[in-house]
Amino acid sequence: MSGDRQRWGTKIGVVLAVAGSAVGLGNFLRFPVQAGKYGEGAFMIPYLIALVLVGIPLMWVEWTAGRYGGGRGHSTAPGIYDSLWKKSRFVKYLGIGGIFGPFLIYMYYVYIESWCLAYAYYSLTGQLSNITSSQGFIDFLSNYQGLSDAGFVSGTVPGFVFFLITFLLNMTVIYFGIRGGIEKLCNIAMPLLLIFGVLLAIRVITLFAPDPLHPDWSSINGLGFIWNTDLSALKSPKVWVAATGQIFFTLSVGMGVILTYSSYLRKKDDIALSGLAAASTNEFAEVIVAGAIVIPAAFIFFGPGEIVEIANSGAFNLGFVTMPQIFNKIPLGAMLCFLWFFMLFLAGITSSISIVQPSIAFMEDEFKIKRQKAVKIFGVVAFVLCQPALWFLHRGVLDDLDFWGANFVIVVGATIEIILLAWIFGINKAWDELHLGAKLRVPVIFKFITKYITPTLLLALLIWFFVEDWLDIITMKGVPPENIPYVLGIRLVLVGILLFLAIMVWIAWKRHKSEDKAKDL
Ligand code: TRP
Repeated sequence: MSGDRQRWGTKIGVVLAVAGSAVGLGNFLRFPVQAGKYGEGAFMIPYLIALVLVGIPLMWVEWTAGRYGGGRGHSTAPGIYDSLWKKSRFVKYLGIGGIFGPFLIYMYYVYIESWCLAYAYYSLTGQLSNITSSQGFIDFLSNYQGLSDAGFVSGTVPGFVFFLITFLLNMTVIYFGIRGGIEKLCNIAMPLLLIFGVLLAIRVITLFAPDPLHPDWSSINGLGFIWNTDLSALKSPKVWVAATGQIFFTLSVGMGVILTYSSYLRKKDDIALSGLAAASTNEFAEVIVAGAIVIPAAFIFFGPGEIVEIANSGAFNLGFVTMPQIFNKIPLGAMLCFLWFFMLFLAGITSSISIVQPSIAFMEDEFKIKRQKAVKIFGVVAFVLCQPALWFLHRGVLDDLDFWGANFVIVVGATIEIILLAWIFGINKAWDELHLGAKLRVPVIFKFITKYITPTLLLALLIWFFVEDWLDIITMKGVPPENIPYVLGIRLVLVGILLFLAIMVWIAWKRHKSEDKAKDL
């Protein structure tokens, strides 16, 4: 059965593809907001600790489980979990999260990705360089999204056109498959985006202190904003929770996407070193590159006080308002502005294609649907289901999707995954599996961390989230009354998708059973 599976073409190909999934809008838009929000020097220590205790172990867990399941003909969580825990008839249903989660993120991620393409285009046409104030950029973004319209609809024609182009580009890449599409794109896009990022970082750092009125607003002090540690900030649990959340999101773990990518490896392809290489690439892009662009740039032109304010004012303001405003103040700004948004677009597309693959793989493996046909089915369904984020953006739909996708599913998914591998499959077996064909011996301490520390931290995080945030969000506390029908509507859609997936898993396994019987006869 596994003879006709798709495979990665080269060893570096899979590393770049996983890194492509991980390096995304989260690195360049979300990380600076988080690092800015909690004030000077608060974020990095919790962040780095979460990376070692939660991020890296989960990364290896996913690579291990994915390659193991791939060897048994399954590329998505339901089948992979089923092969990790043979005795359970129920565990495959827990795997639904591995298709549901990515799909849910897709429902809004592509739309945001398309803004980056649009802004790259507008920086070439000069439309951004005419704007002179923060308010001007805020208005430009709202006009683009159509938020100033009085009616309930919030989309605009340009917004839709750029969405359509982005969506079709995504589908085209997936249509050509793992080796012909995903790997080819990532082989080009990943080096390119890293080069763009490094160029931008060098430009920002070499601005030094351009404002004579504020000689201490320098790029170096901007780096200090991130790195000068303020130990007293470590007392706040909020910053630890936020840092751990960022680690999850940025590494794309807990979602089932790395499972799927890793399943296209062969039995003895290295995963220990590849996993670490992909995670390191992501951290380089986030901490070194993004860390040297957004916060220092904002620091130079707005000072330390205002960074915290901007970071708190909205998820997109640093990237779509502050950054283009800064580019307008420096020589060759239009070109740098293009580099910035085009880099964001590349980071976005290498992530969004990875979110599509689990749905495609599920149809291929469990229903024997040909890839090309699976892409068409996905295209039609996803196109329709992406529309709510587009047209009801300012009705709380995007925020709600982001909550369920980026917070809820990831943390719950990661907890299930690690318990399955470290406790049910067994940490010793998992450890051997991780080292099969490995070019790196993982320090034994990680065996202990993976079995005890990571799951404990995850459970603590789950409880914290539940009490502090989720209860209020689930009961829609704070949602303005006029938005409630929309938020409720989108939640019903999500429940519908979950039920649909559960039925599909049920049907697929019924068919597997009768196929097995037929084989035995
Ligand atoms: N890591 C991605 C980013 O930083 C976002 C993300 C989270 C993601 N989970 C994912 C992307 C799953 C692809 C698949 O932007």
